[in-house]
Amino acid sequence: GADFKLSISTLRISGILPSTGDIQLQTEHLATRLKQDSVVEDISAGCGIINFKVNRKLLVQEDDKFGLNSELFNTLKKGTTLVEYSSPNIAKKFHAGHLRSTIIGNFIANLKQCLGNNVIRMNYLGDWGMQFGLLGAGFAQFGCQEKLKENPLQHLFEVYVQVNKEAEHNEDMKQAARDFFRQLEQHDNEAVSLWQQFREITVDEYQQVYKRLGVHFDVYSGESFHQHQAQEVVQQLQSRDLLKTSEKGTGVVDLSTSGDTSSVCTVLRSDGTTLYITRDLAAAIDRKEKYNFNEMIYVTDKSQANHFRQLFHILLAMGHSWADRCKHVPFGLVRGMKTRKGEVVFLEDVLDEARARMLHNMSQSKTTKEMDNPEDTAEKVGISALIVQDFRGPLQSDYKFDWDRMLQAQGDTGVFLQYTHARLSRSVFTTVLYRYIKLKCPCFINICYLSNEELDVLCSYDEVLYQSAQDLQPKHLVNFLLKLCILISFAECQQARLRLFSGACSVLANGMRILGITPVDQI
Ligand code: ARG
Repeated sequence: GADFKLSISTLRISGILPSTGDIQLQTEHLATRLKQDSVVEDISAGCGIINFKVNRKLLVQEDDKFGLNSELFNTLKKGTTLVEYSSPNIAKKFHAGHLRSTIIGNFIANLKQCLGNNVIRMNYLGDWGMQFGLLGAGFAQFGCQEKLKENPLQHLFEVYVQVNKEAEHNEDMKQAARDFFRQLEQHDNEAVSLWQQFREITVDEYQQVYKRLGVHFDVYSGESFHQHQAQEVVQQLQSRDLLKTSEKGTGVVDLSTSGDTSSVCTVLRSDGTTLYITRDLAAAIDRKEKYNFNEMIYVTDKSQANHFRQLFHILLAMGHSWADRCKHVPFGLVRGMKTRKGEVVFLEDVLDEARARMLHNMSQSKTTKEMDNPEDTAEKVGISALIVQDFRGPLQSDYKFDWDRMLQAQGDTGVFLQYTHARLSRSVFTTVLYRYIKLKCPCFINICYLSNEELDVLCSYDEVLYQSAQDLQPKHLVNFLLKLCILISFAECQQARLRLFSGACSVLANGMRILGITPVDQI
Protein backbone atom coordinates (compact mmCIF):
# COMPACT_ATOMS: atom_id res chain seq x y z
CA GLY A 1 0.00 0.00 0.00
CA ALA A 2 0.89 3.61 -0.42
CA ASP A 3 1.41 6.14 2.36
CA PHE A 4 0.44 9.05 0.16
CA LYS A 5 -1.51 9.29 -2.99
CA LEU A 6 -1.51 12.12 -5.44
CA SER A 7 -4.39 12.30 -7.83
CA ILE A 8 -3.69 13.52 -11.32
CA SER A 9 -7.01 15.31 -11.52
CA THR A 10 -5.88 17.64 -8.73
CA LEU A 11 -2.86 18.55 -10.80
CA ARG A 12 -5.06 19.09 -13.82
CA ILE A 13 -7.44 21.34 -11.93
CA SER A 14 -4.61 23.36 -10.46
CA GLY A 15 -3.15 23.79 -13.94
CA ILE A 16 0.11 21.97 -13.20
CA LEU A 17 -0.74 19.36 -15.82
CA PRO A 18 -2.63 20.03 -19.04
CA SER A 19 -6.30 19.20 -18.62
CA THR A 20 -6.46 17.06 -21.73
CA GLY A 21 -4.53 14.02 -22.91
CA ASP A 22 -4.28 10.40 -21.83
CA ILE A 23 -4.51 10.39 -18.05
CA GLN A 24 -2.72 7.07 -17.73
CA LEU A 25 0.18 8.27 -19.85
CA GLN A 26 0.41 11.47 -17.88
CA THR A 27 0.47 9.52 -14.63
CA GLU A 28 3.21 7.19 -15.77
CA HIS A 29 5.26 9.98 -17.25
CA LEU A 30 5.06 11.99 -14.04
CA ALA A 31 5.86 8.99 -11.86
CA THR A 32 9.08 8.30 -13.76
CA ARG A 33 10.11 11.91 -13.50
CA LEU A 34 9.71 12.14 -9.74
CA LYS A 35 12.88 11.22 -7.90
CA GLN A 36 13.10 8.82 -5.00
CA ASP A 37 15.17 9.89 -2.04
CA SER A 38 15.99 8.77 1.47
CA VAL A 39 12.48 9.63 2.68
CA VAL A 40 10.35 8.37 -0.21
CA GLU A 41 11.59 4.94 -1.20
CA ASP A 42 9.06 4.09 -3.85
CA ILE A 43 7.02 6.05 -6.37
CA SER A 44 4.63 4.17 -8.62
CA ALA A 45 1.84 4.96 -11.02
CA GLY A 46 -1.69 3.72 -10.35
CA CYS A 47 -4.79 4.53 -12.26
CA GLY A 48 -4.76 8.32 -12.46
CA ILE A 49 -2.91 8.27 -9.16
CA ILE A 50 0.70 8.36 -8.06
CA ASN A 51 1.60 6.31 -5.01
CA PHE A 52 4.34 7.27 -2.59
CA LYS A 53 5.79 4.93 -0.02
CA VAL A 54 7.79 6.28 2.87
CA ASN A 55 10.97 4.50 3.84
CA ARG A 56 10.17 2.47 6.98
CA LYS A 57 13.80 2.22 7.94
CA LEU A 58 13.72 5.93 8.53
CA LEU A 59 11.34 5.47 11.41
CA VAL A 60 13.09 2.59 13.09
CA GLN A 61 16.60 3.89 12.95
CA GLU A 62 18.65 3.87 16.09
CA ASP A 63 17.77 7.00 18.04
CA ASP A 64 21.07 8.81 17.76
CA LYS A 65 20.95 8.64 13.96
CA PHE A 66 17.24 9.34 13.68
CA GLY A 67 16.52 11.56 10.72
CA LEU A 68 20.16 11.73 9.68
CA ASN A 69 20.52 9.47 6.69
CA SER A 70 20.29 11.98 3.96
CA GLU A 71 22.13 11.84 0.67
CA LEU A 72 21.88 15.58 0.87
CA PHE A 73 24.95 15.61 3.08
CA ASN A 74 27.02 13.88 0.44
CA THR A 75 26.70 16.96 -1.72
CA LEU A 76 28.38 19.10 0.93
CA LYS A 77 32.12 19.66 0.75
CA LYS A 78 33.97 17.73 3.43
CA GLY A 79 37.40 18.44 4.83
CA THR A 80 39.02 20.40 7.57
CA THR A 81 37.13 23.38 8.92
CA LEU A 82 38.85 25.77 11.28
CA VAL A 83 36.41 27.73 13.41
CA GLU A 84 37.76 30.64 15.43
CA TYR A 85 35.44 31.90 18.15
CA SER A 86 35.09 33.44 21.62
CA SER A 87 38.51 35.17 21.49
CA PRO A 88 38.29 37.44 24.53
CA ASN A 89 40.93 40.01 25.49
CA ILE A 90 43.02 39.41 28.57
CA ALA A 91 42.29 41.81 31.45
CA LYS A 92 39.44 43.43 29.57
CA LYS A 93 35.73 42.91 29.96
CA PHE A 94 34.14 39.72 28.62
CA HIS A 95 31.20 41.42 26.96
CA ALA A 96 27.98 40.13 25.44
CA GLY A 97 29.73 40.00 22.07
CA HIS A 98 32.20 37.45 23.38
CA LEU A 99 29.35 35.37 24.78
CA ARG A 100 27.63 35.45 21.40
CA SER A 101 30.83 34.54 19.60
CA THR A 102 31.34 31.63 22.02
CA ILE A 103 27.94 30.02 21.56
CA ILE A 104 27.61 30.75 17.83
CA GLY A 105 31.10 29.43 17.11
CA ASN A 106 30.37 26.34 19.15
CA PHE A 107 27.17 25.79 17.16
CA ILE A 108 29.01 26.11 13.85
CA ALA A 109 31.76 23.75 14.98
CA ASN A 110 29.21 21.18 16.20
CA LEU A 111 27.22 21.43 12.98
CA LYS A 112 30.28 21.03 10.77
CA GLN A 113 31.40 18.05 12.82
CA CYS A 114 27.96 16.45 12.62
CA LEU A 115 28.10 16.82 8.83
CA GLY A 116 31.34 14.90 8.66
CA ASN A 117 34.05 17.55 8.66
CA ASN A 118 37.25 17.48 10.59
CA VAL A 119 36.85 20.50 12.87
CA ILE A 120 39.52 22.55 14.61
CA ARG A 121 38.15 24.76 17.37
CA MET A 122 40.35 27.75 18.01
CA ASN A 123 40.34 30.56 20.55
CA TYR A 124 42.37 33.59 19.43
CA LEU A 125 43.07 35.54 22.59
CA GLY A 126 43.67 39.26 22.66
CA ASP A 127 46.97 38.71 24.45
CA TRP A 128 49.21 41.31 22.84
CA GLY A 129 49.39 45.05 22.32
CA MET A 130 49.89 48.21 24.30
CA GLN A 131 47.37 47.15 26.95
CA PHE A 132 50.00 44.73 28.26
CA GLY A 133 52.38 47.60 28.73
CA LEU A 134 49.76 49.28 30.88
CA LEU A 135 48.89 46.08 32.68
CA GLY A 136 52.53 45.25 33.42
CA ALA A 137 53.33 48.75 34.66
CA GLY A 138 50.05 48.92 36.54
CA PHE A 139 50.60 45.59 38.24
CA ALA A 140 53.86 46.84 39.75
CA GLN A 141 51.90 49.60 41.45
CA PHE A 142 48.38 48.26 42.10
CA GLY A 143 48.76 44.52 41.72
CA CYS A 144 48.84 41.85 44.39
CA GLN A 145 49.90 38.24 43.83
CA GLU A 146 47.46 36.89 46.45
CA LYS A 147 44.50 38.60 44.87
CA LEU A 148 45.65 37.46 41.47
CA LYS A 149 45.59 33.85 42.62
CA GLU A 150 42.29 34.21 44.43
CA ASN A 151 40.26 35.87 41.74
CA PRO A 152 42.42 36.37 38.65
CA LEU A 153 39.96 37.83 36.17
CA GLN A 154 38.52 40.24 38.69
CA HIS A 155 41.93 41.39 39.86
CA LEU A 156 43.45 41.84 36.41
CA PHE A 157 40.42 43.83 35.36
CA GLU A 158 40.66 46.06 38.46
CA VAL A 159 44.34 46.72 37.86
CA TYR A 160 43.64 47.48 34.22
CA VAL A 161 40.88 49.97 35.05
CA GLN A 162 43.03 51.64 37.70
CA VAL A 163 46.11 51.99 35.54
CA ASN A 164 44.10 53.40 32.66
CA LYS A 165 42.69 56.04 34.94
CA GLU A 166 46.13 56.85 36.29
CA ALA A 167 47.70 57.05 32.84
CA GLU A 168 45.14 59.67 31.80
CA HIS A 169 46.91 62.33 33.84
CA ASN A 170 50.20 60.76 34.85
CA GLU A 171 52.99 60.99 32.25
CA ASP A 172 55.30 58.75 34.29
CA MET A 173 52.72 56.01 34.20
CA LYS A 174 52.43 56.31 30.44
CA GLN A 175 56.18 56.10 30.11
CA ALA A 176 56.32 53.07 32.41
CA ALA A 177 53.73 51.37 30.21
CA ARG A 178 55.72 52.06 27.05
CA ASP A 179 58.85 50.77 28.74
CA PHE A 180 57.18 47.60 29.90
CA PHE A 181 55.81 46.89 26.44
CA ARG A 182 59.22 47.44 24.89
CA GLN A 183 60.72 45.01 27.41
CA LEU A 184 58.08 42.51 26.41
CA GLU A 185 58.86 42.93 22.74
CA GLN A 186 62.54 42.48 23.47
CA HIS A 187 61.85 39.30 25.45
CA ASP A 188 62.99 40.61 28.77
CA ASN A 189 62.70 37.60 31.10
CA GLU A 190 60.90 39.30 33.93
CA ALA A 191 58.38 41.06 31.72
CA VAL A 192 57.69 37.92 29.72
CA SER A 193 57.18 35.77 32.78
CA LEU A 194 54.67 38.22 34.27
CA TRP A 195 52.84 38.37 30.95
CA GLN A 196 52.86 34.58 30.79
CA GLN A 197 51.41 34.35 34.26
CA PHE A 198 48.56 36.69 33.29
CA ARG A 199 47.84 34.64 30.22
CA GLU A 200 47.96 31.21 31.87
CA ILE A 201 45.82 32.25 34.77
CA THR A 202 43.25 33.76 32.43
CA VAL A 203 43.08 30.68 30.23
CA ASP A 204 42.62 28.45 33.31
CA GLU A 205 39.75 30.60 34.51
CA TYR A 206 38.08 30.72 31.13
CA GLN A 207 38.33 26.98 30.74
CA GLN A 208 36.22 26.54 33.87
CA VAL A 209 33.50 28.77 32.51
CA TYR A 210 33.63 27.28 29.03
CA LYS A 211 33.13 23.89 30.64
CA ARG A 212 29.89 25.09 32.19
CA LEU A 213 28.77 26.10 28.70
CA GLY A 214 29.81 22.77 27.22
CA VAL A 215 32.36 24.56 25.04
CA HIS A 216 35.94 23.51 24.46
CA PHE A 217 38.85 24.49 22.24
CA ASP A 218 41.51 22.43 20.52
CA VAL A 219 43.87 25.39 20.34
CA TYR A 220 44.36 28.49 22.45
CA SER A 221 46.24 30.75 20.12
CA GLY A 222 46.46 34.50 20.35
CA GLU A 223 47.79 37.68 18.85
CA SER A 224 51.07 37.25 20.73
CA PHE A 225 51.91 34.17 18.66
CA HIS A 226 52.21 36.19 15.51
CA GLN A 227 54.15 39.33 16.32
CA HIS A 228 57.29 38.11 14.52
CA GLN A 229 55.46 36.66 11.59
CA ALA A 230 53.62 39.98 11.32
CA GLN A 231 56.94 41.66 10.51
CA GLU A 232 57.60 38.98 7.88
CA VAL A 233 54.19 39.72 6.37
CA VAL A 234 55.19 43.36 6.06
CA GLN A 235 58.31 42.30 4.16
CA GLN A 236 56.30 40.05 1.86
CA LEU A 237 53.93 42.93 1.15
CA GLN A 238 56.92 45.07 0.34
CA SER A 239 58.51 42.53 -2.00
CA ARG A 240 55.21 42.21 -3.85
CA ASP A 241 55.09 45.97 -4.14
CA LEU A 242 51.86 46.11 -2.16
CA LEU A 243 53.17 48.31 0.64
CA LYS A 244 52.95 52.10 0.34
CA THR A 245 54.07 54.74 2.75
CA SER A 246 51.39 57.26 3.67
CA GLU A 247 51.93 60.97 4.30
CA LYS A 248 51.84 60.24 8.03
CA GLY A 249 54.64 57.74 7.62
CA THR A 250 52.51 54.66 8.22
CA GLY A 251 52.65 51.57 6.02
CA VAL A 252 49.45 51.05 4.04
CA VAL A 253 48.04 48.67 1.45
CA ASP A 254 46.00 50.19 -1.35
CA LEU A 255 42.59 48.55 -1.52
CA SER A 256 41.00 50.83 -4.09
CA THR A 257 39.97 49.31 -7.40
CA SER A 258 41.48 52.16 -9.38
CA GLY A 259 44.81 52.12 -7.55
CA ASP A 260 44.51 55.74 -6.45
CA THR A 261 44.80 54.99 -2.68
CA SER A 262 41.26 56.31 -2.12
CA SER A 263 40.79 53.32 0.18
CA VAL A 264 43.72 51.98 2.18
CA CYS A 265 44.38 49.65 5.07
CA THR A 266 47.11 50.51 7.57
CA VAL A 267 49.37 47.57 8.39
CA LEU A 268 52.34 49.32 9.99
CA ARG A 269 52.56 52.21 12.48
CA SER A 270 55.05 54.97 11.84
CA ASP A 271 57.21 53.62 14.69
CA GLY A 272 57.48 50.31 12.84
CA THR A 273 55.15 48.30 15.08
CA THR A 274 52.41 46.10 13.66
CA LEU A 275 48.66 46.28 14.16
CA TYR A 276 45.69 44.02 14.81
CA ILE A 277 45.24 43.37 11.08
CA THR A 278 48.93 42.65 10.50
CA ARG A 279 48.81 39.98 13.19
CA ASP A 280 45.61 38.59 11.63
CA LEU A 281 47.34 38.34 8.25
CA ALA A 282 50.22 36.45 9.82
CA ALA A 283 47.87 34.25 11.84
CA ALA A 284 45.82 33.26 8.77
CA ILE A 285 48.92 32.30 6.76
CA ASP A 286 50.32 30.38 9.70
CA ARG A 287 47.06 28.48 10.22
CA LYS A 288 46.91 27.51 6.57
CA GLU A 289 50.43 26.12 6.82
CA LYS A 290 49.80 24.31 10.10
CA TYR A 291 46.32 22.90 9.55
CA ASN A 292 45.84 23.05 5.79
CA PHE A 293 42.15 23.83 6.30
CA ASN A 294 39.61 23.73 3.49
CA GLU A 295 37.70 26.56 5.05
CA MET A 296 38.19 28.95 7.92
CA ILE A 297 35.38 30.68 9.78
CA TYR A 298 35.74 33.73 12.02
CA VAL A 299 32.90 34.57 14.40
CA THR A 300 32.77 38.14 15.70
CA ASP A 301 30.29 41.00 15.97
CA LYS A 302 29.39 42.85 12.81
CA SER A 303 31.47 45.93 13.67
CA GLN A 304 34.49 43.89 12.51
CA ALA A 305 32.99 43.07 9.11
CA ASN A 306 35.19 45.62 7.38
CA HIS A 307 38.29 44.34 9.16
CA PHE A 308 37.68 40.84 7.78
CA ARG A 309 36.86 42.14 4.30
CA GLN A 310 40.22 43.92 4.28
CA LEU A 311 41.97 40.85 5.68
CA PHE A 312 40.65 38.55 2.94
CA HIS A 313 41.31 41.19 0.29
CA ILE A 314 44.97 41.57 1.25
CA LEU A 315 45.48 37.81 1.52
CA LEU A 316 44.15 37.40 -2.02
CA ALA A 317 46.36 40.21 -3.26
CA MET A 318 49.32 38.39 -1.71
CA GLY A 319 48.45 35.38 -3.86
CA HIS A 320 46.74 33.28 -1.21
CA SER A 321 43.82 32.03 -3.25
CA TRP A 322 42.49 30.01 -0.28
CA ALA A 323 41.38 33.33 1.20
CA ASP A 324 38.11 33.05 -0.65
CA ARG A 325 37.39 30.00 1.44
CA CYS A 326 37.64 32.16 4.56
CA LYS A 327 34.39 33.48 5.95
CA HIS A 328 33.39 35.99 8.54
CA VAL A 329 30.16 35.22 10.37
CA PRO A 330 28.98 38.54 11.79
CA PHE A 331 26.40 38.97 14.53
CA GLY A 332 24.45 41.90 15.98
CA LEU A 333 24.62 43.66 19.31
CA VAL A 334 22.92 42.60 22.51
CA ARG A 335 21.33 45.44 24.43
CA GLY A 336 20.79 45.50 28.15
CA MET A 337 22.66 42.42 29.37
CA LYS A 338 22.53 43.16 33.10
CA THR A 339 22.50 41.03 36.20
CA ARG A 340 21.12 41.94 39.64
CA LYS A 341 24.63 43.09 40.53
CA GLY A 342 24.55 45.54 37.63
CA GLU A 343 26.49 45.68 34.42
CA VAL A 344 28.06 42.41 33.32
CA VAL A 345 31.83 42.24 33.41
CA PHE A 346 32.46 38.52 33.52
CA LEU A 347 30.81 35.66 31.70
CA GLU A 348 30.52 33.76 34.95
CA ASP A 349 28.10 36.37 36.31
CA VAL A 350 25.66 35.77 33.45
CA LEU A 351 25.77 32.01 33.93
CA ASP A 352 25.31 32.35 37.70
CA GLU A 353 22.35 34.62 37.24
CA ALA A 354 20.72 32.33 34.67
CA ARG A 355 21.10 29.42 37.09
CA ALA A 356 19.77 31.35 40.08
CA ARG A 357 16.74 32.65 38.21
CA MET A 358 15.94 29.22 36.81
CA LEU A 359 16.32 27.61 40.22
CA HIS A 360 13.89 30.17 41.59
CA ASN A 361 11.35 29.37 38.85
CA MET A 362 11.81 25.67 39.43
CA SER A 363 11.29 25.94 43.18
CA GLN A 364 7.65 26.66 42.42
CA SER A 365 7.17 23.21 40.94
CA LYS A 366 6.67 19.97 42.86
CA THR A 367 9.04 17.85 40.79
CA THR A 368 12.04 19.95 41.79
CA LYS A 369 11.90 18.49 45.29
CA GLU A 370 12.33 14.99 43.91
CA MET A 371 15.28 15.96 41.73
CA ASP A 372 18.77 14.63 42.50
CA ASN A 373 20.59 17.81 41.64
CA PRO A 374 18.32 20.78 40.99
CA GLU A 375 21.28 23.19 40.68
CA ASP A 376 22.71 21.17 37.86
CA THR A 377 19.35 21.06 36.08
CA ALA A 378 18.85 24.78 36.62
CA GLU A 379 22.30 25.42 35.15
CA LYS A 380 21.63 23.41 32.02
CA VAL A 381 18.14 24.82 31.49
CA GLY A 382 19.33 28.37 32.21
CA ILE A 383 22.05 28.04 29.57
CA SER A 384 19.59 26.67 27.03
CA ALA A 385 17.45 29.74 27.67
CA LEU A 386 20.41 31.99 26.87
CA ILE A 387 21.21 30.07 23.72
CA VAL A 388 17.69 29.93 22.30
CA GLN A 389 17.14 33.62 22.97
CA ASP A 390 20.31 34.30 21.03
CA PHE A 391 19.68 31.90 18.14
CA ARG A 392 16.02 32.61 17.46
CA GLY A 393 16.47 35.35 14.87
CA PRO A 394 19.01 36.10 12.13
CA LEU A 395 22.47 36.45 13.67
CA GLN A 396 23.01 39.89 12.13
CA SER A 397 20.09 41.37 14.08
CA ASP A 398 20.55 43.21 17.33
CA TYR A 399 18.32 42.08 20.17
CA LYS A 400 17.34 43.05 23.66
CA PHE A 401 18.44 40.77 26.46
CA ASP A 402 15.38 39.86 28.51
CA TRP A 403 15.66 37.53 31.50
CA ASP A 404 11.92 37.14 32.07
CA ARG A 405 11.06 36.40 28.49
CA MET A 406 13.85 33.92 27.85
CA LEU A 407 13.05 31.95 31.00
CA GLN A 408 9.38 31.42 30.22
CA ALA A 409 8.28 27.80 30.26
CA GLN A 410 6.11 28.26 27.17
CA GLY A 411 6.74 29.91 23.85
CA ASP A 412 9.92 30.07 21.80
CA THR A 413 12.35 29.50 24.65
CA GLY A 414 15.05 27.06 25.59
CA VAL A 415 13.08 26.21 28.72
CA PHE A 416 10.21 24.97 26.56
CA LEU A 417 12.61 22.76 24.59
CA GLN A 418 13.98 21.27 27.78
CA TYR A 419 10.58 20.68 29.36
CA THR A 420 9.43 18.88 26.25
CA HIS A 421 12.57 16.81 26.07
CA ALA A 422 12.41 15.82 29.73
CA ARG A 423 8.76 14.85 29.42
CA LEU A 424 9.39 12.84 26.30
CA SER A 425 12.43 11.04 27.56
CA ARG A 426 10.58 9.89 30.68
CA SER A 427 7.23 9.23 29.12
CA VAL A 428 5.53 6.04 28.19
CA PHE A 429 5.53 7.32 24.64
CA THR A 430 9.21 6.68 24.30
CA THR A 431 9.12 3.29 25.95
CA VAL A 432 6.38 2.10 23.69
CA LEU A 433 8.02 3.48 20.61
CA TYR A 434 11.23 1.88 21.68
CA ARG A 435 9.51 -1.47 21.95
CA TYR A 436 8.56 -1.16 18.32
CA ILE A 437 12.07 -0.25 17.39
CA LYS A 438 13.43 -3.24 19.25
CA LEU A 439 10.98 -5.45 17.49
CA LYS A 440 12.46 -4.11 14.29
CA CYS A 441 9.19 -4.62 12.65
CA PRO A 442 8.71 -1.49 10.58
CA CYS A 443 5.45 -2.72 9.10
CA PHE A 444 3.80 -2.14 12.48
CA ILE A 445 4.14 1.56 11.92
CA ASN A 446 1.33 2.75 9.77
CA ILE A 447 2.34 6.14 8.56
CA CYS A 448 -1.20 6.92 7.43
CA TYR A 449 -1.98 7.76 11.03
CA LEU A 450 0.50 10.59 11.02
CA SER A 451 -0.62 13.91 9.65
CA ASN A 452 1.26 15.52 6.80
CA GLU A 453 2.65 18.10 9.18
CA GLU A 454 3.89 15.42 11.55
CA LEU A 455 5.58 13.49 8.79
CA ASP A 456 7.05 16.65 7.46
CA VAL A 457 8.63 17.54 10.78
CA LEU A 458 9.81 13.99 11.35
CA CYS A 459 11.55 13.83 8.01
CA SER A 460 12.99 17.30 7.63
CA TYR A 461 15.72 17.27 10.27
CA ASP A 462 18.42 16.64 7.70
CA GLU A 463 17.09 19.34 5.41
CA VAL A 464 17.16 21.77 8.30
CA LEU A 465 20.78 20.91 9.08
CA TYR A 466 21.60 21.29 5.42
CA GLN A 467 19.99 24.71 5.40
CA SER A 468 21.96 25.78 8.48
CA ALA A 469 25.14 24.51 6.86
CA GLN A 470 24.46 26.70 3.83
CA ASP A 471 24.16 30.02 5.63
CA LEU A 472 25.61 29.09 9.05
CA GLN A 473 22.48 30.42 10.78
CA PRO A 474 21.20 28.51 13.80
CA LYS A 475 17.68 29.90 13.48
CA HIS A 476 16.60 27.10 11.10
CA LEU A 477 17.46 24.43 13.64
CA VAL A 478 16.03 26.35 16.61
CA ASN A 479 12.74 27.00 14.85
CA PHE A 480 12.55 23.42 13.68
CA LEU A 481 13.06 22.07 17.21
CA LEU A 482 10.46 24.49 18.57
CA LYS A 483 8.03 23.31 15.90
CA LEU A 484 8.74 19.72 16.87
CA CYS A 485 7.99 20.54 20.52
CA ILE A 486 4.68 22.19 19.66
CA LEU A 487 3.76 19.16 17.61
CA ILE A 488 4.55 16.88 20.51
CA SER A 489 2.51 18.90 22.97
CA PHE A 490 -0.47 18.63 20.62
CA ALA A 491 0.17 14.95 20.41
CA GLU A 492 -0.20 14.48 24.12
CA CYS A 493 -3.61 12.89 23.72
CA GLN A 494 -1.88 10.32 21.56
CA GLN A 495 0.37 9.56 24.46
CA ALA A 496 -2.69 8.41 26.30
CA ARG A 497 -3.54 6.13 23.40
CA LEU A 498 -0.05 4.70 23.46
CA ARG A 499 -0.57 3.98 27.14
CA LEU A 500 -3.55 1.97 25.99
CA PHE A 501 -1.27 0.09 23.57
CA SER A 502 1.30 -0.79 26.14
CA GLY A 503 -1.38 -1.62 28.71
CA ALA A 504 -3.23 -3.75 26.20
CA CYS A 505 -0.02 -5.49 25.26
CA SER A 506 0.76 -6.64 28.78
CA VAL A 507 -2.85 -7.51 29.61
CA LEU A 508 -3.06 -9.59 26.46
CA ALA A 509 0.20 -11.31 27.21
CA ASN A 510 -0.69 -12.02 30.81
CA GLY A 511 -4.19 -13.28 29.93
CA MET A 512 -2.78 -15.46 27.19
CA ARG A 513 -0.29 -16.95 29.62
CA ILE A 514 -3.08 -17.87 32.01
CA LEU A 515 -4.73 -19.69 29.16
CA GLY A 516 -1.51 -21.61 28.64
CA ILE A 517 -0.46 -19.68 25.51
CA THR A 518 3.04 -18.21 25.15
CA PRO A 519 2.88 -14.79 23.48
CA VAL A 520 5.41 -14.22 20.69
CA ASP A 521 7.01 -10.95 19.73
CA GLN A 522 7.31 -11.66 16.05
CA ILE A 523 5.40 -13.68 13.58
N1 ARG B 1 39.90 39.74 20.51
C1 ARG B 1 39.05 40.36 19.53
C2 ARG B 1 38.00 41.22 20.20
O1 ARG B 1 37.67 41.00 21.33
C3 ARG B 1 38.35 39.39 18.64
C4 ARG B 1 39.25 38.58 17.77
C5 ARG B 1 38.59 38.13 16.52
N2 ARG B 1 39.42 37.31 15.71
C6 ARG B 1 40.36 37.75 14.86
N3 ARG B 1 41.04 36.85 14.21
N4 ARG B 1 40.60 39.00 14.68
O2 ARG B 1 37.46 42.11 19.57
